[in-house]
Amino acid sequence: MKKFTSVSDIENLQEIIKKALEIKENPLSETEKGKGKTIGLVFLNSSLRTRLSSQIAAQNLGLNVLTLNAAQEAWNLEFADGAVMNGDTVEHIKDAIEVLNQYCDIIAVRCFAGMKSKEDDVNESILSQFEQHAKVPVISLESATRHPLQSLADCITITENWKEERKPKVVLTWAPHIKPIAHAVGNSFAEWMQEMDVELVIANPEGYDLDKKFTKDVKVIHNQDEALKDADFVYVKNWSSFDDYAAMPEVKENWMLTNEKLANTNHGKVMHCLPVRRNVELSDEVMDGGNSIIYQQAKNRIFSAQAVFSEILDEIN
Ligand code: CP
Repeated sequence: MKKFTSVSDIENLQEIIKKALEIKENPLSETEKGKGKTIGLVFLNSSLRTRLSSQIAAQNLGLNVLTLNAAQEAWNLEFADGAVMNGDTVEHIKDAIEVLNQYCDIIAVRCFAGMKSKEDDVNESILSQFEQHAKVPVISLESATRHPLQSLADCITITENWKEERKPKVVLTWAPHIKPIAHAVGNSFAEWMQEMDVELVIANPEGYDLDKKFTKDVKVIHNQDEALKDADFVYVKNWSSFDDYAAMPEVKENWMLTNEKLANTNHGKVMHCLPVRRNVELSDEVMDGGNSIIYQQAKNRIFSAQAVFSEILDEIN
């Protein structure tokens, strides 16, 4: 694997899921693989799971880890090409990446959607600069439009929880939120599920359809109860409007996932990438109930990252 920014960088999804599950059984099986190599984890946005799971995964492989919480600890970065830097920005992203090239064998970066310019976000204005200027493999720790390490962890979690012959019904359901949220997790989940042997349905209110680039021909239902019927997995996530970019059109029905709604499913297992707003996106009873596999999903972030870092090391070693 030369880079990891989307599902298209994976040669064989089932193989990497299998590898991640083997790593989960024996996380210290490749402690020499990263010896003498350095991974730079660059966070332009907040994180708990991605930061810590990536650090654990890298340490399990013997990699040196540099973590830069750029928003808090680095110089104020300029992203615009040709900018006259006579304002608040101190260092251009191009220069920062050139320096990271000298220090790191792998660069991993988190760069969320700015949610101000649809064009900048859909064109991955920041990740694309890393891809353009990095001379070492680039890994996405969540970008404007995708969260691939999360999606791989989601695939691992569904695989662990599905032992029947038939395809599971997986419902990605929109949930309420108090502010406009980016589309990366929803887009990415939709994209990866289309590579899995599942029946995927997306449920969201009118005005909240995700970008067709990611959902393609997946069935989108604007009635949550109808979509949830007989679901084997229910993936809860908020996102803002894509068409009316970053807007929050009014939703009259209650879309928060509750036990009452879950009763309509086939004992559906509940998933969420976290962090979650309890009693806004889903109820306490769902979060703390027996159907939740959300913490298992969070644990699998380690093995998702470790499988990807291991494949990247195969390429550069
Ligand atoms: N799910 C996830 O990416 O969590 P963090 O934002 O805490 O990294």
